Amino acid sequence: MVDYPVLRYEHAAHSQEKGEYRHFMLKEIHEQPAAIANTLEGTQGEDHVLTAILGLEAETRLKDLQNIHIVACGTSCHAGLVARYWIEDQAGLPCQVEVASEYRYRQVAVPANTLLIAISQSGETADTLAALRYAKQQGYLASLAICNVAGSSLVREADWRLLTKAGPEIGVASTKAFTTQLVALLWLTTALAQVKDRAPEMISANVRALKGLPRLVEKVLHLDQHIEELATTFANKHHALFLGRGPHYPIAMEGVLKLKEISYIHAEAYAAGELKHGPLALVDENMPVVSVAPSDSLLEKLKSNLQEVGARGGQLITFACERVDMDEGEGITYLKLPWVYEAVSPIVYTVPLQLLSYHVALVKGTDVDKPRNLAKSVTVE
Ligand code: AGP
Repeated sequence: MVDYPVLRYEHAAHSQEKGEYRHFMLKEIHEQPAAIANTLEGTQGEDHVLTAILGLEAETRLKDLQNIHIVACGTSCHAGLVARYWIEDQAGLPCQVEVASEYRYRQVAVPANTLLIAISQSGETADTLAALRYAKQQGYLASLAICNVAGSSLVREADWRLLTKAGPEIGVASTKAFTTQLVALLWLTTALAQVKDRAPEMISANVRALKGLPRLVEKVLHLDQHIEELATTFANKHHALFLGRGPHYPIAMEGVLKLKEISYIHAEAYAAGELKHGPLALVDENMPVVSVAPSDSLLEKLKSNLQEVGARGGQLITFACERVDMDEGEGITYLKLPWVYEAVSPIVYTVPLQLLSYHVALVKGTDVDKPRNLAKSVTVE
C-alpha cells in the first residue's frame, strides 16, 4: 500500500455561494479586481518583477529561452493568443499558439531552447493535459503550467508553474480565470523582457500598469447599467460580428465565445482589416457589429474599418477610449472606457464584453451559469 500525502486547499466559504448576485457569472465578473490583486500579490517590486517566484531552476533558465510555444483550449487559448503579441513585441521572442486538441495529434518541430506553456483554468482539461504529456517527449527546454488550481494534474506534471489566484470559478463561462491568466502572462512577458535586458522603462511601466489594474477594472465595472441597456439591441438578432485589431483581436474572439456560449447567438470575430475580404457582405441593419477600439497605434486603421460598416447600415456598438474622438452618427453607439496603458488594455477591454454577453443572455432568458451542452471542465476528449 502506498501512503499519499493529503493536500488541503482552503477557499473562503463565500466563493461557493452567489451572495447578493443573481448568477455566479455576474459575481465572478465583479470579483475580478480582487482576483487580479491576489494573482499579483508578492510577484513584483517597485519597478521590476520578482522572477524568483517561478522557482530557482526556472529563474536561472529563463535567459536561455529563445522561443515560446503555447497550448490551451477555449478561453485559455485566447489568453495565449493575446500573450503572443506581448511576448514578441516586448521580450522579442518568437511565440506560437495552438489549440491543444490539434497540437497533440501532429508532429511538431521544436526549435532549440523552446519553452512550452500550457494554460488552463482547471488544470484537468483532457486535450491540454495530453498536449503537455506529448510535449514532454518533444525536446522542449521545459514546460510551464499557468493554472488556477494548485493541486491539478497540469500543475503536478509541468516542470514549472505560475498560479493564477482567481479563486474557484463556478460559472461555465470563464471570466475571472481569463483576466487573471492575462495578468500572469503579462507578468511573464515582463519577466522575460527583464532577463533579456529589454528597455527598463518598459518593464517599470508594465509593473505600474499591473499594479493599477484592479482599480481600473473596478471603474469599468461601473459601466454595467449602460451595457445592460445596449444588450436590448441583440434581443431579436441571430448573428453578430466582433472586430478588434492587434491584441484586441483575440479579445474580440473571447467576446464572441462568451456570447455564443451563454446567449446562443451565432457570432464571429474578425481582425478588422479582414472585413473587406469577405464578411462585409454580411453587414446590414440586422447585424450588430461590436468593436473594441482602445487608444492604440492601430486606432486610425480601425476607425476606417468601422466607417465601412457604418456605410452599409450596420449597427455599430463600439467600446472606445474616452480621450479619443469617434465619429458619431445614426446606428452608432459608443461606450467610453477610461484611458489605459497600451499593454494592459486587452485586460480592461475584456470586462465590457463579459458584461455584454451576460446581459444579452438575460434578455434571451438562457441558463447563464449552466449553458446547454457544456461542462465546466472538459476532462474527456
Ligand atoms: C470558457 O468560457 C469555456 N467554458 C471553455 O472554453 C474553457 O475555457 C475551456 O474548456 C478550457 O478550460 P480550462 O481553462 O479549464 O482548460
